[in-house]
Amino acid sequence: MDGNGRWAKSRCLSRLKGHEEGAQAARRIVEAVKERNIPYLTLYAFSSENWNRPKDEVEGLFRLLEGFIDKEIDRLKESGVCLHIIGDISKFPSVLIEKVMMSVDKTARNKEIHLSVALNYGGRDEIIRTTRKIISEGLTADSLNQKVFAGYLDTAFMPDPDLLIRTGGEWRISNFLLWQLAYTEIFFTDTLWPDFDEDALERALTWFSSRERRFGMTSEQVRGKEPV
Ligand code: IPE
Ligand code: MG
Repeated sequence: MDGNGRWAKSRCLSRLKGHEEGAQAARRIVEAVKERNIPYLTLYAFSSENWNRPKDEVEGLFRLLEGFIDKEIDRLKESGVCLHIIGDISKFPSVLIEKVMMSVDKTARNKEIHLSVALNYGGRDEIIRTTRKIISEGLTADSLNQKVFAGYLDTAFMPDPDLLIRTGGEWRISNFLLWQLAYTEIFFTDTLWPDFDEDALERALTWFSSRERRFGMTSEQVRGKEPV
């Protein structure tokens, strides 16, 4: 969800106002994705590198997240959203950790859509934490394979993503889901996150549906598999 700061700057507003507007965009997109019966959505909200931002901004983001949970959690619960957190929130303020865990518990029985929010998330950090878990459980080298490894990742409960949407005009992955993105289609758009609306989502989904996903095979092989 990139571009909140530039959205705000172009309107002579504070960066925090941009993040507030970004939170509203996230709320709308969760709804739009759910309406389209897409079962999994993951939002990259705070990266393991975002700690390097000015203290005011980091604290502002935490306050925003707290306020968002307070305002939205009941509605999310009612609308069938099952909330998951990926990333390592152990370094977050304890009040926020409690709020986040309470929200996860509250929505745990929902099935309509699995909404994962990446908080203090970094793909490299996740891979290291996963490897530590595997070693500490005493798994032998022989018993390790891709499926076993994936089962220890923060994302063990979800399939690999089909589509990644990167807003804000940057053409990079920024340490997001490094393992899981192996065969993901990636849609880059200049649209700044607060402006990312249902039409923009529709454009990304239309582009996605035109992609031929070969997973290492030839085009002929893939087409041969399609029903006639
Ligand atoms: C949102 O956009 C990123 C976070 C939620 C931390 P940015 O804050 O990176 O926006 P730009 O790149 O400055 O426009
Ligand atoms: Mg940015």
